[in-house]
Amino acid sequence: MTTDTTTQDTTPGAPATGETVLDARGVTMRFGGLTAVRNVDLTVNSGEIVGLIGPNGAGKTTFFNCLTGLYIPTEGEVRYKGTVLPPKSFKVTAAGVARTFQNIRLFANMTVLENVLVGRHTRTKEGFWSAVLRLPGFHKAEAASRARAMELLEFVGLADKAEHLARNLPYGEQRKLEIARALASDPGLLLLDEPTAGMNPQETRATEELVFAIRDMGIAILVIEHDMRFIFNLCDRVAVLVQGEKLVEGDSATVQGDERVVAAYLGEPFEGAPGAEEAAEVAAAEAETETPAVETPEAETSEAETSEVAADDTEAEAPEAEADDAETADAPAAAADTTTDTAPGKENDR
Ligand SMILES: Nc1ncnc2c1ncn2[C@@H]1O[C@H](COP(=O)(O)OP(=O)(O)OP(=O)(O)O)[C@@H](O)[C@H]1O
Ligand SMILES: [Mg+2]
Repeated sequence: MTTDTTTQDTTPGAPATGETVLDARGVTMRFGGLTAVRNVDLTVNSGEIVGLIGPNGAGKTTFFNCLTGLYIPTEGEVRYKGTVLPPKSFKVTAAGVARTFQNIRLFANMTVLENVLVGRHTRTKEGFWSAVLRLPGFHKAEAASRARAMELLEFVGLADKAEHLARNLPYGEQRKLEIARALASDPGLLLLDEPTAGMNPQETRATEELVFAIRDMGIAILVIEHDMRFIFNLCDRVAVLVQGEKLVEGDSATVQGDERVVAAYLGEPFEGAPGAEEAAEVAAAEAETETPAVETPEAETSEAETSEVAADDTEAEAPEAEADDAETADAPAAAADTTTDTAPGKENDR
């Protein structure tokens, strides 16, 4: 597998960086009285990896379902490379948008290779009769499909398991197989719904490299994840969904530095929120009573307290100045050490 994480669009014929690949406008999805997604705009450009984060139940998967024809949005429009996507998932795949699922959807009793071949079928021209009558064209097409499927298995690191049954793969490898199957449809945009859920740190790191390599093939990526280290290491832009609405969108530093994001994850009041003033007064009073006679400066005490709410590990108390420098490449990784599976930017307690 290629591990070049610095270049973009290295594949000949890849779209020029900056072309809008996905353009979702005003997407709203209602289920009876519940509005799961409300008026969400989101674009993904060629060469980009865009993250979609938000607390459980925020509407992330529902939004993906609206993009991929599984749901027809109640309102709004989704365009792929300028064309409105059809409201059928197989047509969306044929148009060039592939996805993986939060709850893995493989054919458990088929082999690894067969699962990838299933993903390939939208790109094979040979028809029903050709397959039934085993016409020469069919054999040729089948051989080409197999070769491509094996290439993809090689790419995700599963070539040696091509003949294994999908259900016998460990969890992390099933997620990789889903990615290979999605890639088999030759997408221009790949949507990943929690690709590292259930993975150990090594597998997660390998998936990070895999996603960079997919981007380098000229495929734009939109990824949902709860693992903030993963998200902030990978993404050029991150959008935050909260209760179905897009709360913030920006680069890693912007999102990590936004107190509304921290508040949304932790359920804490933010400036201007009802009760924020009272909470601040209580915090100040507590800081005063708890300040030791010597050594610890007052300000540090109150900050440290806020940090403790934000994280249960020690590095959350990173100095403010560090958070301000978050646009440097190191910052997301440093932040991420403290944030896996919980809140983004815990070090930005300001
Ligand atoms: N088919 C459906 N019918 C009714 N309600 C639904 C349906 N699908 C999703 N919902 C509701 O929409 C809301 C958003 O759910 P969704 O699965 O999109 O959240 P999510 O952000 O992906 O959460 P998680 O991080 O836990 O995966 C939830 O309240 C959920 O119960
Ligand atoms: Mg989900």
